[in-house]
Amino acid sequence: MQDSVLLNIENLKVYYELRRFGFVHAGYVRAVDDVTLSLKKGEALSIVGESGCGKTTLAKTILGLVKPFSGKVIFDGKDLTDLDGRMKLWYSSQVGFVQQDPYGALPPFMTVKRILQEPMLIHGIKDPNEQMARITKILTELKMTPVEDFLGKFPHMLSGGQQQRVVIARATILNPKLIVADEPVSMLDASVRVEILQLLRQLQKEHGIALIYITHDLSTVSYFSERIIVMYAGWIVEEAPAQELVENPLHPYTKALFEAISDPDAENLKTFKKVPAGEPPSLVNPPSGCRFYPRCDARVDGLCDRGRPEYLWVNEKHRVLCFPEEQKQRFKT
Ligand SMILES: Nc1ncnc2c1ncn2[C@@H]1O[C@H](COP(=O)(O)OP(=O)(O)O)[C@@H](O)[C@H]1O
Ligand SMILES: [Mg+2]
Repeated sequence: MQDSVLLNIENLKVYYELRRFGFVHAGYVRAVDDVTLSLKKGEALSIVGESGCGKTTLAKTILGLVKPFSGKVIFDGKDLTDLDGRMKLWYSSQVGFVQQDPYGALPPFMTVKRILQEPMLIHGIKDPNEQMARITKILTELKMTPVEDFLGKFPHMLSGGQQQRVVIARATILNPKLIVADEPVSMLDASVRVEILQLLRQLQKEHGIALIYITHDLSTVSYFSERIIVMYAGWIVEEAPAQELVENPLHPYTKALFEAISDPDAENLKTFKKVPAGEPPSLVNPPSGCRFYPRCDARVDGLCDRGRPEYLWVNEKHRVLCFPEEQKQRFKT
């Protein structure tokens, strides 16, 4: 069982230092604050939560682009904080990154062919026949056919959906073990979003690649992943198999999110603006106690505003960061 684990994140804290006048230490933004999670080989995991809750910071830390303040990120048995130059190169072939803005992610003066050759050149795949075979295969899988029509095009000549498919092709061309997709369709036209997500999911399943799909769009998560993690203000507040989380959300924040998507107001589907009321807390001076306390409709004064809650394990796959019901009842009476 243990050897099927691909990624282990243990008590990860990622803080950005704030400096006044450029040099005086003025505190930290606690963007990811004590996150523990694991991912199996070939598994698809969604991470959801409002803007500013630490999703991108977590993604960048997994990709080795941001250094942890403390805690561990172990990929395939190797501690990421210990990687030297050679191992960093190896790691860049093991993980692919799909960002929100495909146009910004693609070099404007390179053709599609050159963009897809680049990672192969960096990793020593120099045979032009092998390069072309890989490019043809991946573009065909992503339904960019006839392939010849796209090879000589520059990013600005492609639609947003085609640009994102090139980004996905580049992220998978070295046969990575993990793809991290950070809001991969939120900047695309609504009409192509589902198609791009389906292509990504199909590719991930067929190649047995693990996927971390980061999104604030709850309406898609259960179709595109097997497991869902809900983040709030740098914390994981709930984790469960996708179906179970949708049918039986337990954290007051998760419940509020799912109520928001059943709201007929289309804007609310995209933004969470109305529900739950209020704003996420400051991550520089987070509230003492539960970080969701100020917005929680089930809060118990004197309990929830003191100290961080522990995870309650509802079953071996479902955890929720909240105080136990018995304890809440005791405080209420
Ligand atoms: N480079 C940075 N320096 C300082 N604060 C940052 C930096 N990047 C992100 N943050 C802050 O960290 C918190 C989490 O941001 P982010 O990880 O981008 O969240 P999300 O992707 O969920 O919107 C936010 O409060 C954001 O303002
Ligand atoms: Mg983000």
